[in-house]
Amino acid sequence: MEFCAQHWQGIENIVHTREVQINKLGRNAVMLPLLCEAQSRAGDSALFVEVGSSIGLSLLWPWLTAQYSTGSRIDGCFSEGRVVCDCRIAGNPTLPLSGIGPKPVRLVGIEVDSLSADNEDDVAWLRALVAPNDDFGRSELERGLELLSQHRPEILAGCVLDRLEDVIAAMPANQPLIVYHCMTLLHLIEADKLAAWRRLLRQVAHSRPVVEAYVAWEEGSPSATLWPVEVRIREWHRSGQDSELVGWTDPSADGSLLQFREKRP
Ligand SMILES: C[S@@+](CC[C@H](N)C(=O)[O-])C[C@H]1O[C@@H](n2cnc3c(N)ncnc32)[C@H](O)[C@@H]1O
Repeated sequence: MEFCAQHWQGIENIVHTREVQINKLGRNAVMLPLLCEAQSRAGDSALFVEVGSSIGLSLLWPWLTAQYSTGSRIDGCFSEGRVVCDCRIAGNPTLPLSGIGPKPVRLVGIEVDSLSADNEDDVAWLRALVAPNDDFGRSELERGLELLSQHRPEILAGCVLDRLEDVIAAMPANQPLIVYHCMTLLHLIEADKLAAWRRLLRQVAHSRPVVEAYVAWEEGSPSATLWPVEVRIREWHRSGQDSELVGWTDPSADGSLLQFREKRP
């Protein structure tokens, strides 16, 4: 508190120019089974696009292993088992939690407020977004930054509504598209971009399979409550979409929990 009071002017200047862009390595452990499922629905040779990549930690799943409390694991296609994210499973898994993750022909992030792991101020901003008492979050961020020093995922700067069309224009005909995002939907809702985002996916689904996989606050009541954070898969068609609630994750969405929903008979 004393530090903040003493440095308030400087803090205010930084906060006014930055977005909340919390990026957590462990979210990959929740996303991996969803991405496997998305690939099995969309088809092989898919292009994977992450919306709202922040500095790029959620683009690192090909290089890490997700270890589940069920005793099984999903290895990223390039993982050598050196970087492991642990995730507790609750409920009966309705998605496979073992095997090798998808091998994307292209994996690209889109970020409206792009950050770089080479930029000290950007890295300092992400460190500042970790809560003071969150030692786990701090060590996870450092693990992620270390991994980013070895693997630099492709991140395009700009709003997804503009950049996704550029990405699609470069795709071969019929190539499946898998879009995923984690804690980004609220940003689209707040910027009044949700309807345009959904229209765009529906339009793309006219010419290729499109599957969306995501982790987000419950839609309709964003930020009204810290729970639930939903884990969903949405298949897009010409005429609309089929959305499936897979389950929930913990309120901080740090990837430490995946609670499966009971399948309806
Ligand atoms: C809370 S962060 C989540 C980062 C990362 N997905 C994760 O789960 O660790 C949400 C990110 O979405 C980005 N974002 C918001 N609106 C966007 C848009 N229209 N297009 C692309 N990125 C956007 C924000 O700048 C921010 O970096």
